Formats: sequence, C-alpha cells, structure tokens
Amino acid sequence: MTSHHHPASAAPDASSTDAAATAEQPQAPTEFWEELYTAKPAVWSGRVNANLASVAGTLTPGRALDLGCGEGGDAIWLAQQGWRVTGIDISTVAIERARAAARAARVDGSLVDFVAGDLETWRPVEPLDLVTASFFQSPVHLPRTQILREAARMLAPGGHLLTVAHAGPPSWVENSEHPAHLFVHPEREIDELALPANEWETVIAELRTREVTSPDGAPGTLEDSVVLLRRLR
Ligand SMILES: C[S@@+](CC[C@H](N)C(=O)[O-])C[C@H]1O[C@@H](n2cnc3c(N)ncnc32)[C@H](O)[C@@H]1O
Repeated sequence: MTSHHHPASAAPDASSTDAAATAEQPQAPTEFWEELYTAKPAVWSGRVNANLASVAGTLTPGRALDLGCGEGGDAIWLAQQGWRVTGIDISTVAIERARAAARAARVDGSLVDFVAGDLETWRPVEPLDLVTASFFQSPVHLPRTQILREAARMLAPGGHLLTVAHAGPPSWVENSEHPAHLFVHPEREIDELALPANEWETVIAELRTREVTSPDGAPGTLEDSVVLLRRLR
C-alpha cells in the first residue's frame, strides 16, 4: 500500500534536488489517496460497514456528515435509512465513484451529496445530527483528532458522533506494516478528543470483533473500535 511511483523522479532531467526532496518528504495525502483509488476499479466493498449500520440504525434520521466517505457505502446506506447526508473525501476518484454508486442505487438526489475536499480545512455549514467516520485512518498525514473535534462542534444538541476504526491489524497479519499509533482504541479516542464532559455523554466505547474471511480464504477476525458520543447541549 505504501509503494508508489513519482513521475518526476523518473524523468531523465529531473534535478537531483527534486529527487532528494521527493525521497525524503512523506507523500502528500491527496496524492497518496488518489493513487490508491486509481490503482483499482473499486477499493472497498461498496456495502455499509457492519458496525456503522448496527449503531446508526438505532438513531433517528436527520442531517449527517460522513468524514472520509471513500466510495460512499456508508453515506448511501444512511440516505436509504432517511438521513440527509453529505459525504466528503479528499480523493476526487473516490467521490466520483460514490456519486455513481448513489445513482446506481437510485438514492434520492436530495438526500445525498458527495463533496471532494480536504477535511483539514473544510467545514460543514449547517448544524448536524450525526457525524460519522469509518476507518478514518491514514498512513500519511491526517490530523484525525483535530478533524473529529471540529466536526463534533457542528453537532446540534442531541446529535451524535460515531467513529468506527481499526483497533489493530487483521488476525492473519503477523507483522503489521502500520505502526501502533495508527490504530484507534475507544478510551484513548475519547481522551484525545477531550470534549467538555458537561456537554458530552459517552453512549458506546467498545472493542468489537468481526468474523471475516482473510484474503487467502481462511476464517479470520478484525477488531473495531466503536465510539458513540452524544452532545447534551
Ligand atoms: C481507510 S479509508 C475509509 C473509507 C470509507 N470511510 C470506508 O469505510 O470504506 C480513509 C478515507 O479517508 C480519506 N481521507 C484521508 N485524508 C483525508 C482528508 N484530509 N480529508 C478528507 N478525506 C480524507 C481517504 O481518501 C479515504 O477515502
């Protein structure tokens, strides 16, 4: 997942300064995600994430924002449950796929809107009832906590913040290529968000194990961090 080719470094007349800068600097998020999506016709299953469905399915539909929506599986599912959803993602390729998937699923166009943008600078304009972030994790720069905190501030009283995230590597991976700090733990997530205790209530803070099939066809498990916070006022 981390290998990539930078066209400039392959050009015969690229200056050595540029080549050195390319080698030393971490890859820019937009470039990293565009390459990841462009490399395959579909990166994710297109289906809603199981833990998102089981938790959000208990909430009363209103206005929702899906952070890092990818190819749109969660946002489309939310719209099908009656939410008015905006999905936002840094990758234009992912956003085009999400729009096409919404059309293919015949979702009412007034219920779902997909926006290409960088959440580090993008801000929602209206009060929200639900902010979701599924596997909003990245091996390149992503100020996850800062973005979640900003989005949480857009929630109306009674609104919910729902995060579902990888809590560890898949059971079939012996040595994860991802450093431990990229994994999310429910209590640590809540601590890092540091939302005012008198304004927020923790509804769910759990590790949930999912039974899945590993890429080589054997049974395996994935561990998700699931956090649901409710804004009281
Ligand atoms: C692991 S994927 C998860 C996609 C989707 N939520 C899902 O569950 O299938 C993380 C997503 O976050 C997006 N992303 C990363 N950094 C971002 C940023 N700064 N602003 C918006 N989206 C970002 C990526 O493009 C990618 O689609």
